[in-house]
Amino acid sequence: MTRYGEYQTEIYAGGLAGELPAHPVDFPSLERKATEVLPSWIHSYVAGGAGDEHTQRLNVTEFHRWGLVPRMLNGAHDRDLSVELFGLTLPHPLFLSPVGVLGICAQDFHGDLATARACARTGVPLTVSTLSQDPLEEVAAELGETPGFFQLYTPDDRDLALSLIHRAENAGYRALIVTVDTWVTGWRPRDLNTANFPQLRGYCLANYTSDPAFRRRLPGAPEEHPSSVVGEWVNVFGRSLGWQDLDWIREATELPVLLKGIQHPDDVRRAKDHGVDGIHCSNHGGRQANGGIPALRMLPEIVEAAGELPVLFDSGVRSGTDVVKALALGATAVGVGRPYVYALAVGGEHGVVHQSRSLLAEADLLMAVDGYPDLAALRQEGLRRL
Ligand SMILES: Cc1cc2nc3c(=O)[nH]c(=O)nc-3n(C[C@H](O)[C@H](O)[C@H](O)COP(=O)(O)O)c2cc1C
Repeated sequence: MTRYGEYQTEIYAGGLAGELPAHPVDFPSLERKATEVLPSWIHSYVAGGAGDEHTQRLNVTEFHRWGLVPRMLNGAHDRDLSVELFGLTLPHPLFLSPVGVLGICAQDFHGDLATARACARTGVPLTVSTLSQDPLEEVAAELGETPGFFQLYTPDDRDLALSLIHRAENAGYRALIVTVDTWVTGWRPRDLNTANFPQLRGYCLANYTSDPAFRRRLPGAPEEHPSSVVGEWVNVFGRSLGWQDLDWIREATELPVLLKGIQHPDDVRRAKDHGVDGIHCSNHGGRQANGGIPALRMLPEIVEAAGELPVLFDSGVRSGTDVVKALALGATAVGVGRPYVYALAVGGEHGVVHQSRSLLAEADLLMAVDGYPDLAALRQEGLRRL
């Protein structure tokens, strides 16, 4: 069993040798640093959300409405954080959620590759967005032994959708995560006020320009027709999916298929009827629909409806404590979004490694201090409403 909490000892030992951590371990400091280093048009795209961003804020504050109840003399000297996820045994329940502009959040604009290299070092699975700056095959190649999941924005062109799915399968991804809440972009005032949308400026479209089915839609080579690339991307980006679409997606691949953006238990039940392998409970970090309920509030109902199916969770996770709370509410695995993007901006590959290790260390130490030797014990009686 890996003792993730030992990262704390490493940091203190560094201090004795006169070394401070290169990057912050807490989210507010990281967010401040990222604001300083990111160009403002990228920062506002990452930091912003839908409407007045109330749902985005609620995602975060909802975690503060739950408190963990400690148990003492409980033999939590060694903690087992391992989880089973569609046939994979993972040493811990943390993963990185898909972020479409990840590529341009690194100084060299190859942030998907840097993040994948970080994941290869930490063993934290990476969900690679359809909107990556480098093609999905090149990102997969950097992951080493760490599992990658491919997130699909289902295009309104079935040949292209099938091509992306097959490419993901051939590249070695271990699951297909179909995002169902983003066939059209939500109303985002920060981006609208600056008329800024990175993909419309030609960024993060590598999975399209490298795809034979997409290239067939262009008058010639993508490099020679940049405005056609963007125009065709706009035409093809979002299919307004219906439940029947799950059937051809399901048939197209042997990979486990999960739906991302599910918030209602009846949708979980319908998804099960269509043979999905897991649910990703998320409200896209409040970027899509404002005026909604925080994702964490819906998690227990989603978990109950999912039954045996694994439930991935994200939206509002800012610390190892948040990770533990989402697990206590029944999540099988917990996804990080904006925090690792800021870590990448601030510290590149090392920044993401440091941040994942910090989250895991905080979660592991909290389990130790609160007397939970494993996730089953935590789930049994870990949380009370504040
Ligand atoms: C800048 C940005 C881009 C995102 N791009 C995608 C994407 O391409 N696909 C997707 O399914 N979700 C995307 N998401 C949503 C994340 O996967 C995740 O649900 C969200 O970040 C969780 O909220 P949090 O970051 O506030 O914790 C994006 C989020 C951000 C912040």
